[in-house]
This record gives sequence, C-alpha cells and structure tokens, in this order.
Amino acid sequence: MRRKILLGITGSIAAYKTLELIRLLRQDGHDVQVVATKSALHFFPVLTAEVFSGHPVYSDLFDPACSVRHIELARDADVLLIAPVSADFLSKMALGLADDLLSTLCLTVTCPVLVAPAMEENMYVHPAIQKHRKTLAARGIYEIPPETGPLASGKEGLGRFASLETIRHSLKTKLMQNERWSGVRVLVSAGPTYEPIDPVRFIGNRSSGKMGYALAAASAARGAQVTLISGPTSLPLPPGVEVLRIETAEDLGISMDRLFPEHDICFMAAAVSDYRLDRPHSSKKKKDGNTWTLSLVENPDILSGLSRQKSPGQFLVGFAAESDMNPEKLLEKLRKKGADMLLANDISRPDIGFSSDENEITLFHPDGTSLPLGKHSKIVLSNKILDEIEKVWRCPAASSNGNKDQPNGNAPLSD
Ligand code: CTP
Repeated sequence: MRRKILLGITGSIAAYKTLELIRLLRQDGHDVQVVATKSALHFFPVLTAEVFSGHPVYSDLFDPACSVRHIELARDADVLLIAPVSADFLSKMALGLADDLLSTLCLTVTCPVLVAPAMEENMYVHPAIQKHRKTLAARGIYEIPPETGPLASGKEGLGRFASLETIRHSLKTKLMQNERWSGVRVLVSAGPTYEPIDPVRFIGNRSSGKMGYALAAASAARGAQVTLISGPTSLPLPPGVEVLRIETAEDLGISMDRLFPEHDICFMAAAVSDYRLDRPHSSKKKKDGNTWTLSLVENPDILSGLSRQKSPGQFLVGFAAESDMNPEKLLEKLRKKGADMLLANDISRPDIGFSSDENEITLFHPDGTSLPLGKHSKIVLSNKILDEIEKVWRCPAASSNGNKDQPNGNAPLSD
C-alpha cells in the first residue's frame, strides 16, 4: 500500500530520530515528503533527509520557486504525520496559527493528521499543553502518545518520543482505518432543539452537542463523508464535515427524513425536545400579572420514524440519557425504537454527560449484550463506538474495496 506521506518535523531534539523513520517508511513502500520548521533545521541534517526521502526538504513558505507549495503538498497527501511535534508547534496547531510552511499546511490538508509529541515532562503535563491536546483531539487529530523514559534533560519522565515502531504501526493502522471508512456516509444529529413559545422565549434542554460533534469529528477523521445536523450550539465545527443547522424538532425531523436514505450510518445524538407548544405566540407575550399556562403536544419520535424507513445495510444508532440505567428498560427502549445500537449514559452524575467534555457510556446491542465503554473524553468514546460499529456492521463500501479482511488494529491514540 504505497501512500504519500507528508512528514512534518518540528524543533525537538527527537528530530534526529526522524531520519531513521524516513528510511523505515520508504522501506514500507511509501513516498515521504519532509516539511520542516525553521527550529527543526537545528536538529537534523537536511541533506541526509533529502537523500533518505528522495525529495527536497521544504521549509520556506515564501519560496520563489513555488508560492503555493502548501496547496500543492496538501492536494496529494494521504496523511500528515508530524513527528516529533514540539510544545510550541502543538500549541500553534491548536490555535490555528499559520506563519510558516508546516503550520500553513496544517490548515490546508484534508487528509488525516497524526502528531507524535516529544518534550520535557513539565511541558507535556502543563495545563496549556493539555488543553491544546484536547482541542486537537476534538478536531479529530490523532496523537501518538509520548512514552515515559529518559528525556533530553537527562531526567526520566513522560514526554519521550514514541518508538519508531509505535509510530510506524500507528500510521499503518490509521491508513488502514481510512481505507475501511472512506466512502462511508455518516449522518449525525447533535445538540438540543428549541421549541418556540413566542418570538423571544423557547423550550430547550441542557444538551451541549459535544457528543454528536465528537462523533462527527471522529468519523470524518477516519475518512467518512459526514453530514452533521446541528441544533443551536456555539461549538466549533469539526473540519471536513458538512453542517446543516436546525432549531426545532420539526425541522430536525424533516432534515433527517430527507437525508437518512443517502447515508450508511446514522447517529441520532440530538436531544430532541419531547414536547412543543400547541400554538406558539406570534408576538411577544407581555406580563399581565396572571399565571401563564402553556399547552404542550408531543413531538413525533424521529428515531422510530427512521427505523421504519431503514434499508438493508443501513445502521441506526440511538442514544439514551437516563437517570435510571436499568439494562432491561434500556434494551426495551432500543427495541421499541428499532435501533441497531443504543448508547446510554447516566445523567444523574454531575461529572459526566451534559456540557461535560467527558462521558461514561454503556453500549447495548439488540441481542441483549452490552459493553461498558468506560469514562473517557467524548472523542475517545466516539472512537471506541466507531470501533464497535466496525465489528458488527459490514460496510458495503469497504467490502466492495476488499478491505474487510484486514485486521482491525486501532492505534493507541490519545484523548
Ligand atoms: N429521540 C427522537 N425523537 C424524539 C425523542 C427522542 O428521535 N422525539 C431520540 C433521541 O435522539 C435518542 C433516543 O430517541 O437517540 C432516545 O432519547 P431519550 O430522550 O432517551 O428517549 P425518549 O424517547 O425521549 O424517552 P424518555 O421518555 O425515556 O425520555
């Protein structure tokens, strides 16, 4: 499997090890193009990298020979691997800064991006870096975690560049994962719905949309074609995802019904308002000193409607936000709604669920089996969910590619 790998090198002492990585990736049959930051050039011999890769090492954004190098490089790339990524460069990526060729490339590529940090432990565990890691993870960028071991300072600690074998394996896994998911069409609904009371007021709920956005980001990072139907949220849009915004349960139902037939997998992660006003007021209701009684009618169940129109091969995933995690009742909900999988979380716990970056999910199959996925960031949970779907759903696109026989080895990638 020959792939075009863009290998970003940044200013960390571990950059010298990347020379050997170039050799190994070439040995695996890949085409390797090195793009280095100015700081990286202090740490490895450019000529050696050019001989090993068979290409010039690019570093300059303002190259008279080609002013749109970042666009050219991005167009052909199958994967962007940044190894090592320094604390400085990781922060730049999280902030979306673009002041050199590699950082500009990070904003231009549409292929999967992997980063392998290498830095002192104090830097890696610093709250700023931890926050940036989470930002990158939420965008679907994969981290090949650093190891614990001797560091450049002579101390032992966390932050040591992952072994070249680990990096090579993670890259291979990621490329294979992309083969399996490329061409798969994923539809995700996310966030709350707002049901108008009058032009000013509405009935809503506490959903932040983070779980649905994480699923959309994780699916897109695997190469799926993702459509996200989003209720009102202020979350940043995951890259590479087509977004449609809705406000009411009725709008959501119409969009889901229209788009569902064109998709292979559907995640019904939206927190649909169960009730809407019978007759919303067309103008703002003034206070009049009296009790105000609202008459509510039940909204149709969108998920149940989708399961009735489901074609063979389509996979429908429902959610359940419960205060009572009774497995029998959850299985009953799964079967009643006709979903192929139900993801349940306990909303009575303050540390997970609504608005939180973390969640704890138990996955239910229609045959009555369940799998606790544990407590993790929403992006890690999304990847675990996608891994489980890979096991039970035969992707038509992947089987026609003949990729299904490949082992399912997901890289030990970060949160
Ligand atoms: N759902 C839906 N349409 C609705 C309500 C819910 O499609 N009108 C979907 C949600 O998106 C979720 C699943 O159904 O995937 C379960 O939602 P949940 O709120 O747990 O269940 P409800 O049907 O509202 O039942 P309950 O009375 O237990 O809240």
